[in-house]
Amino acid sequence: MMLRRIDKDQPETFAFSKSNLSWAKKQILKYPKDRQQSAVIPLLYRAQEQEGWISKPAIEFIAKMLKMAPIRVYEVASFYFMFHLSPVGKKAHIQVCGTTPCMLRGSEKLIEICKQRISKHQKEPCSKGKLSWEEVECIGACSNSPVVQVGSDYYEDLSEESFSHLLDELMEGYPEPGSQKKRFSSEPEGFFNSSKVKIEENRNASVKLFLKTSLREKNK
Ligand code: FES
Repeated sequence: MMLRRIDKDQPETFAFSKSNLSWAKKQILKYPKDRQQSAVIPLLYRAQEQEGWISKPAIEFIAKMLKMAPIRVYEVASFYFMFHLSPVGKKAHIQVCGTTPCMLRGSEKLIEICKQRISKHQKEPCSKGKLSWEEVECIGACSNSPVVQVGSDYYEDLSEESFSHLLDELMEGYPEPGSQKKRFSSEPEGFFNSSKVKIEENRNASVKLFLKTSLREKNK
């Protein structure tokens, strides 16, 4: 197993933003009194969403909140690969699925594009510091392969062209996730044009949620 260590360059401090702090306190209350350290994963994940990665001060901050020894929090953060122990792209860390269905539908070409346009090495930010990438195992959207994940959003049905375009858009803004071929979900292509079944909405629930969140992000 690969040994994972915290980054040698660390920030001085860490603190949750006001809204994240109140969210974190509510998470802790979901657990019974003597089991509240179980909130360590959601708190670490929220710290990563806020800062992009897990720093030593973040580990110490969370340890204090949960009355844990910092080494125990570090053990969790270094065990799970979803936690980044070094800075990744400030704007987006792109997880490219490389498992068989995505590989058969072109993920190797997407990885090539990442190597050319972002960095030869996984988890290494591009020269502008905005984007980074890594290859991951199946992310559970095989019917819309090839797929990449950015935070909690999926960009599906990608081609070399649409993926390159996505990278341009990620540098500047918040591109709309979901099928990049404009499928509603994972129905056969063109299904709703040719079938008597009609849907009222023009976007599925994940895309609608993204639009709500990204709007909040822009208005910060
Ligand atoms: S193989 Fe890529 S999402 Fe399942």
